[in-house]
Amino acid sequence: MGFINRSLITCLVILFVFANTRPISCEKDDDPMRERYKNWMAKYNRTHKDDRQREKRFQIYKANVELIEAFNAINEDYKLTDNQFADITNTEFREHYMGLKESSSRVPLLDIKQNEEHSEKAREMLEAVPQKIDWREKGAVSEVRDQGRCGACWAFSAVAAIEGITQIKSGRMVTLSEQELVDCNMIDDGCYGGFMTDAFDFIRLNGGLTTESDYPYRGQQEECKTSKLDHHAATIKGYRNVTANEQSLLNAVASQPVSVGIDAGSMAFQFYSSGVFTGPCGVELNHGVTIVGYDTDGKDKYWIVKNSWGAGWGEKGYVRMKRGVEGDLGLCGITTLASYPLV
Ligand SMILES: *[C@@H]1O[C@H](CO)[C@@H](O)[C@H](O)[C@H]1NC(C)=O
Ligand SMILES: *[C@@H]1O[C@H](CO)[C@@H](O)[C@H](O)[C@H]1NC(C)=O
Repeated sequence: MGFINRSLITCLVILFVFANTRPISCEKDDDPMRERYKNWMAKYNRTHKDDRQREKRFQIYKANVELIEAFNAINEDYKLTDNQFADITNTEFREHYMGLKESSSRVPLLDIKQNEEHSEKAREMLEAVPQKIDWREKGAVSEVRDQGRCGACWAFSAVAAIEGITQIKSGRMVTLSEQELVDCNMIDDGCYGGFMTDAFDFIRLNGGLTTESDYPYRGQQEECKTSKLDHHAATIKGYRNVTANEQSLLNAVASQPVSVGIDAGSMAFQFYSSGVFTGPCGVELNHGVTIVGYDTDGKDKYWIVKNSWGAGWGEKGYVRMKRGVEGDLGLCGITTLASYPLV
């Protein structure tokens, strides 16, 4: 994990904890941060049930903005901003906006040596894939959606991968239903987490998945609308897991959008705004997203990652994540739970 500047993180963590525990009574009323908070609340349509709630959220907002500004002053790879998650703590963020089941990494750390052998082989295949690919330019990626306060990332990740391969094979972009997966795939826990591979299995066994407009997203788990189960707008034959190293992942993404698990729990990820995300992050997977391309910007190689936190987060809903990192796990464990649907 040589890419993490530990003293920087320690400094930011101390700053955050300190700022967050400062007693409320210390605040002067002419704090310029209040004006900024008012504007932020208007932008994100926030209301509070009473003054106490409002003050509590303001203190969290203020601590977050101080952290964001301290970070932006020293980090040159990417920038943070006070986005829609600016009035919640990192703990609340982790609790409500992800949704991969816990400890879901497919690669025990002991397997790394074996994976190194895999990447040796994979490196030989380097010539075969294009230098860059962006499935958005080929019409294989739908609009960025917003999972809201529901841990259904796994459904969004799987749907984006299926929409991708369906468009690549048929030339038609059909936007598909996450809600059908949230309500009807009983192997997973709806808004409390799931796996993309379970979603693929569900769709294969069900014979298909209906469209977004036929079974729209509701942001909460509801009773399965069984009458929709035989509406098949797209289907898959199954899926394949990708060997956990960057070259195998690159080969897969060269053919189609790929579902991946990542550790998205850091504050840096919570407030990511633009640039190539380089961490800090661990490799304990907690979030499902979809890689829809890769490229290089001169300095950094990166993955183009479609998220499901709305178009207001990150780069119009996307994050560019550094690739070409030390070891086989990839940044934030991005190689360790990768899979793609087969049609
Ligand atoms: C806030 O509400 C307005 C009007 O209802 C809406 O147009 C806008 O998209 C909302 N903004 C956000 C960030 O939800
Ligand atoms: C893919 O990986 C998942 C997660 O470890 C595992 O449960 C599943 O059996 C694997 N599927 C295949 C087809 O290898």
